Amino acid sequence: MPEEPMAATEASIGQPPATSHQPPQPAASRDDRRAAIMLKEWPALKADVAACTACPLHAGRKKTVFGVGDENADWLFIGEGPGADEDTQGEPFVGQAGKLLDSMLASIRLKRGANVYIANVVKCRPPGNRNPEPAEAAACEPYLQRQIDLIRPKLIVALGKVAAANLLASDASVASMRGKVHSYRGIPLIVTYHPAYLLRSLPEKAKAWTDLCFAVKTMTELPARPNAG
Ligand code: URA
Ligand code: SF4
Repeated sequence: MPEEPMAATEASIGQPPATSHQPPQPAASRDDRRAAIMLKEWPALKADVAACTACPLHAGRKKTVFGVGDENADWLFIGEGPGADEDTQGEPFVGQAGKLLDSMLASIRLKRGANVYIANVVKCRPPGNRNPEPAEAAACEPYLQRQIDLIRPKLIVALGKVAAANLLASDASVASMRGKVHSYRGIPLIVTYHPAYLLRSLPEKAKAWTDLCFAVKTMTELPARPNAG
């Protein structure tokens, strides 16, 4: 999908041209938008996402996919972005990959919505299920950051390369990132394969199981949240 043309005001105040690595927005208003998002509580944050037009993905969506689950969860699973089923239903991971995610959760005695929250890097479906562009992920990132600040999970599980790359600002492979405890702004983060990838590559399921066991062990060893409610 083509990027929106740069606004005339942007060019006139001497911003560098927008590239695929920059949100097409002047730095000052980008910072203002981020600061405003960081002050929002759940209802305002949800309303903001539902009405968002901050990146070109808004044009092709049926529904925004905010995220779902327990807003006080210890566990936060983060995927890439909505697919066709999620776009129709407005909920993350409800298609085939979602069924596998649900059984992965069940295998470690977790359940969608009970001490688990599920979100994505981008809240609107990329056309044809392509990966989100860096500028799209950057435009959507304040929402995810605010969700994480409000949830205060004990552990984040990044599902697949796109989630891991965006959360850890790294281009490393999932193979090289799994089996370690990383950190997202001070919160322990573990990387595993995306369920859609596991559906195509069944031998990797065993590795994902190893990763889930590692996540459970890591969670068990983490201190309780200071003022968990
Ligand atoms: N894949 C994702 O990364 N997220 C979803 O919500 C669905 C499929
Ligand atoms: Fe807004 Fe995120 Fe949707 Fe882009 S993907 S329009 S930033 S909610």
